Amino acid sequence: MNYLYIAEFYNLSITTLPMKIVVLGADGYLGWPLSLRLLRRGHRVVGVDNLATRRAVEEVGSDSALPISSPQERERAAKELGDFKFVFGDVTDYQFVKELISSEKPDAVVHFAEQRSAPYSMKDVEHAVYTMHNNLEGTLNLIYAVKEAKPDVHVVKMGTMGEYGTPNFDIPESAFVEVEIKGRRDRIPTPKFAGSWYHWTKVYDTYNMLFANKIWGLTFTDIMQGPVYGTRTEEIVSERFFTRFDFDEVWGTVVNRYCVEAVLGLPLTPYGKGGQTRGFLSLEDSVEALRILIENPLRWDPTGTSTSS
Ligand SMILES: NC(=O)c1ccc[n+]([C@@H]2O[C@H](COP(=O)([O-])OP(=O)(O)OC[C@H]3O[C@@H](n4cnc5c(N)ncnc54)[C@H](O)[C@@H]3O)[C@@H](O)[C@H]2O)c1
Repeated sequence: MNYLYIAEFYNLSITTLPMKIVVLGADGYLGWPLSLRLLRRGHRVVGVDNLATRRAVEEVGSDSALPISSPQERERAAKELGDFKFVFGDVTDYQFVKELISSEKPDAVVHFAEQRSAPYSMKDVEHAVYTMHNNLEGTLNLIYAVKEAKPDVHVVKMGTMGEYGTPNFDIPESAFVEVEIKGRRDRIPTPKFAGSWYHWTKVYDTYNMLFANKIWGLTFTDIMQGPVYGTRTEEIVSERFFTRFDFDEVWGTVVNRYCVEAVLGLPLTPYGKGGQTRGFLSLEDSVEALRILIENPLRWDPTGTSTSS
């Protein structure tokens, strides 16, 4: 029987029960430290990645500023913390994703496995199409695999605050807003106007998950997270556990990039006019917030307010 159901039935805190969690994108900046945190909490982790970020960073002539171990070495290091398995695979391959969910039967799936650079997606048509294909197809494959193989799984999907763009109003804390058009009112998904092809893939993912929830009742937590900064979590105690630290103009997220530019005495490189305002969070806070979400899954409430089980 599934652990989540046991927990709900007896009204226990599920944080006391170990879960099996698939982390898609486990070789990435967030996926690796989250996998380590989950292992330390006693969960079993299946980490999946096709190493696309390693290749794409190389493609622009860059590298992680902190040395990162090979996937094999990472697997050995992670096994010291708990039950970890690394699976090489591509989420754009539907048979692979379906087989993964059918055979592993996870309690939760964390979906990080997307092309995550806005500048990379804006380079040219080839990179725009790759980003659309990789991100939309991966998420749709996951939606169908979960529906077919394990519809009760909790999918934690990383979206981004960039989905909203920079509207001239406070971004609401809900997936829906009330609108009135020509005297008639209705609830519609919160309007979004992203600023890159990459950010638009996240918007489309959001709508695809909302739709899958509406027609099939699948459970998603779609996280609108701001940029993450930093290199350390409680588990990153030595070089073997380092996560990647990108600093170049294509892959370096803003605070990480500015830190390296400041250390090297180079001018800071803001995008556009540099007038954007964003909320930032540390790597430790990002990982811990995700851990709390995974251990306390939200359940869909059609009245519009999700509740924790
Ligand atoms: N880092 C941030 O500040 C931040 C902020 C908001 C949202 N996000 C989102 O969080 C997620 C993780 O971000 P990150 O910074 O760890 O990025 P990352 O590029 O370091 O990690 C993503 C991982 O997914 C893998 N991947 C990509 N496409 C894949 C595919 N088709 N099949 C299998 N694996 C694939 C990559 O190889 C990489 O290891 C991304 O979806 C990103 O858009 C990140």
